[in-house]
Amino acid sequence: MYRAFRREGNCLICAAGVAVKKYHLARVPPLANPPKPTLHPATIAAQAAGATDRETAGVVPAVHMATTFARDENYAPLNADNIYLRSHNENVRVAERLLSQLEGAAETLLFPSGMAAIAAVFRTVPNGAKVVVQSQIYWGTTGWIRSFCTRREITLHEVEAADADALAEACRAHKPTLVLIETPSNPWLRITDIEGAARIAHGVGAKLVVDSTAASPALSHPLAHGADIVMHSATKAINGHSDVLAGSLSTAEPDAEIWHMIREDRDTAGAVMGPMEAWLLTRGMRTLPLRMREMSKNALVLAEYLSDHPQVETVLYPGLADHPGHAIAARQMTGGFGGLLSFIVKGGKDAALLAAGRMQLFHRATSLGGVESLVEHRHTLEPHTGIPEGLLRVSVGIEDAQDLIADLGQALGQ
Ligand SMILES: Cc1ncc(COP(=O)(O)O)c(C=O)c1O
Repeated sequence: MYRAFRREGNCLICAAGVAVKKYHLARVPPLANPPKPTLHPATIAAQAAGATDRETAGVVPAVHMATTFARDENYAPLNADNIYLRSHNENVRVAERLLSQLEGAAETLLFPSGMAAIAAVFRTVPNGAKVVVQSQIYWGTTGWIRSFCTRREITLHEVEAADADALAEACRAHKPTLVLIETPSNPWLRITDIEGAARIAHGVGAKLVVDSTAASPALSHPLAHGADIVMHSATKAINGHSDVLAGSLSTAEPDAEIWHMIREDRDTAGAVMGPMEAWLLTRGMRTLPLRMREMSKNALVLAEYLSDHPQVETVLYPGLADHPGHAIAARQMTGGFGGLLSFIVKGGKDAALLAAGRMQLFHRATSLGGVESLVEHRHTLEPHTGIPEGLLRVSVGIEDAQDLIADLGQALGQ
């Protein structure tokens, strides 16, 4: 009988008798030098939580593109951790491990987009149940949840969750199974007290899910404040280079029923991230703390500049002392307030579009969290959601703050 390979020890010998590959026959051994949990986030990130390429001694993990993995002559997997790509990929594991450490989570699951991560959470809600979702959050989330809840006969209550009394009243009246908040919110920059929201949700037996995209794990740890699941559009700051679409869910309780459902659904329904994206995401995360520090610093300087500008009506940025959520943000965010800020230009839509059109450094583009600064006129994209016509949302990058100020100044007409 022709046999392409036989096994000797942990080597695979090809038909010509040449040892072609050293296989890890048992579980993939733990990392040679896993970082100690006492290490600071910047160290954990820079060293990708200890991930290297053990095969070649490369200090950067290799990309593992295989969709399927070999079995021995008795049909036992040569590596029990690797059967098929939809469930098993080392690049995805490396990125998940790193994100878990940065987030303070026991387990993280990556998804091919932020929306896929949100959808994975909502698919756990039974037909006919009730959910409470923060109002005036990222419009894509609101729009998808509305249509999903209608299809599944789930009663959706939208509430301004930054108002703790309104959230408590909605939860008391409706007894939801799930509460979703987004803090800081996009594009209003509202701040919800995560600890208070967790108390309210848990008081009625609901799970609290926090979309922490605008803060990123560099600035906020919702699980430490009582959230059950923290969600990110990793397309944004976590990747940080506007070149990967990704989403994540993390939990401190991997044995919870909701987490089992999410994990199994990802495995079987297949909303998984590809190896190359996961590799890029790990590369992006290596500089996450550094980028968020610079972005937060720049955003605060710009917010202060805009606050004094005669052409600007209002600045929405939680780092400003007069922002209504500043005290809560200062308590639950560490190291800065993020790179997302909105401001309302005097003169409404025409004045805002004129200013955006004059900008030369800020790209006129949607999204946020990349190293390059972006400006967006949200009203053009979502005219029906109550966004003020004069509102410009900017994602502040890591350019020199003085260059960004000069660009804003000339765009607004000094
Ligand atoms: C706060 C927030 N949550 C979720 C999403 C959706 O993420 P994705 O575009 O990665 O699907 C976005 C996208 O802009 C967002 O800003």
